[in-house]
Amino acid sequence: MNWELVDRYAKSLIKEAGHKIRVSFFNRLDIDTKTNANDLVTNIDREIEQFFISRIKSDFPDHKILGEEGFGDTVETLAGVTWHLDPIDGTMNFVHQKMNFAISLGIYLDGVGILGYIYDVVRDDFYNAKKGEGAYLNDERLPQLGVVPLSDAIVGINARWVAPNRFIDNEKMIGLVLECRGTRSYGSAAIEQAFVATGRLDAYISMRLSPWDIAGGLVIAQEVGAVVTNLNGDAPHLLGQESFIVARPGLHNDILSNYIRLKK
Ligand code: IPD
Ligand code: CA
Ligand code: CA
Repeated sequence: MNWELVDRYAKSLIKEAGHKIRVSFFNRLDIDTKTNANDLVTNIDREIEQFFISRIKSDFPDHKILGEEGFGDTVETLAGVTWHLDPIDGTMNFVHQKMNFAISLGIYLDGVGILGYIYDVVRDDFYNAKKGEGAYLNDERLPQLGVVPLSDAIVGINARWVAPNRFIDNEKMIGLVLECRGTRSYGSAAIEQAFVATGRLDAYISMRLSPWDIAGGLVIAQEVGAVVTNLNGDAPHLLGQESFIVARPGLHNDILSNYIRLKK
């Protein structure tokens, strides 16, 4: 596989998709709901996914594509090359704020992340990484993450995981919120991972993310030394929804050991 070529191709596709999204701001948005009244999808999520898929299928016909909106393949194994695509991560923000959303893409070979991209379209911030070659923000290399104790850390977490919920002991999460320096929630798992990779956040936790939410960010975060696992401490399997944490080294273990108690 000529990964240099795939990398150049993916970057230009993502930039073109970002342009389409910016142009879409001038047109009326069609908004639908999916699994519940707050799970939004728009015509633009669908159009952007279809744009990626038609191009990738014609230029890399033997690659598989797992896209959130379901226009890609049914992916049951990660053998071969798989593109994990979220055309708009943070659709609620896209609809309500017209910012704080991103295109997220990870390209994997036999389950191993080779290329990762997060494009924060409105800020025009392009994060990317290639396995073993470092991570970049707008072509500037990101430094390796150092150690930060919880008392000095900003933790990315949605308040719903601090309220009683079916996934996790929320009393433990209250402890985490009280012990850290501060919390933030941006509403885009991709942007939150990019923020951990750049040190703007020190950790990000979620109870339930899909492969397309994490595949791009995982490659980027690992290239700067962040630790990425599910909340059992295992590597994400990228074949379905699971819990998620990305954090600086040291902090990852502290949070998992002392503040996470999963419900059975
Ligand atoms: C969602 C966002 C959100 C996260 C949800 C995701 P979507 O993705 O990343 O921050 O909390 O779990 O599903 O639906 O906007 O692509
Ligand atoms: Ca998403
Ligand atoms: Ca999405």
